[in-house]
Amino acid sequence: MATRKSTQHSAEELIPPRPTLSSLRAAAADCKACDLWKLGTQTVFGEGRRRSIVMFIGEQPGNEEDLTGKPFVGPAGRLFDAALAAADIDRSQTYVTNVVKHFKWKPRGKRRIHKKPNAQEISACRPWLQTEISLVKPQVIVALGATAAQTLLGSKFRVTKQRGQFIESTLAPYVMATVHPSSILRAPDNETRRLEHHRFLNDLKKLAQLLKA
Ligand code: URA
Ligand code: SF4
Repeated sequence: MATRKSTQHSAEELIPPRPTLSSLRAAAADCKACDLWKLGTQTVFGEGRRRSIVMFIGEQPGNEEDLTGKPFVGPAGRLFDAALAAADIDRSQTYVTNVVKHFKWKPRGKRRIHKKPNAQEISACRPWLQTEISLVKPQVIVALGATAAQTLLGSKFRVTKQRGQFIESTLAPYVMATVHPSSILRAPDNETRRLEHHRFLNDLKKLAQLLKA
């Protein structure tokens, strides 16, 4: 049985009335709706232009994101940046965020190792993401990895089967899921890595094609 340690169990009541991206970000900075605020250095809120056409949604900040307060700036972020550039997509024209906004980690030696957020943390944090989506109103949402894909498209969604396809959703006119860039970094050997990178790039190229249409 999951025990509920925090008094709040959702960020819902912290959403400002008639929020803007900046008032939302300020409110999220003080969020204690789940226990992850104790583990992370700071809330890592989404970043990008209001009314961006594309919103990318990852899982949760990693070590470098936790320290800088910015999403996708660590190793996965650098791979993501390079892939976007190769697909001719300008990151500065997009909005980049995560399902969960605090870094969850466990120690390994001196390092902090990523630990997957659980269902309660995902659901506690969801109002921030939901409100980001309603303010940015993206034409296209791209889920990066299974956590984002299943949060947005349901627990039955399988990235392995449905990656790169535009999925019918009420969240945005176009919703697509692909792998998480860190899964490419974790590939067991160079050949798999090269192949996975190529497939990731193909998914982003489909997105680029849609944007140019
Ligand atoms: N992984 C994510 O899912 N998000 C980040 O911001 C960084 C790494
Ligand atoms: Fe709030 Fe989300 Fe951080 Fe939990 S992870 S404390 S819900 S911002």
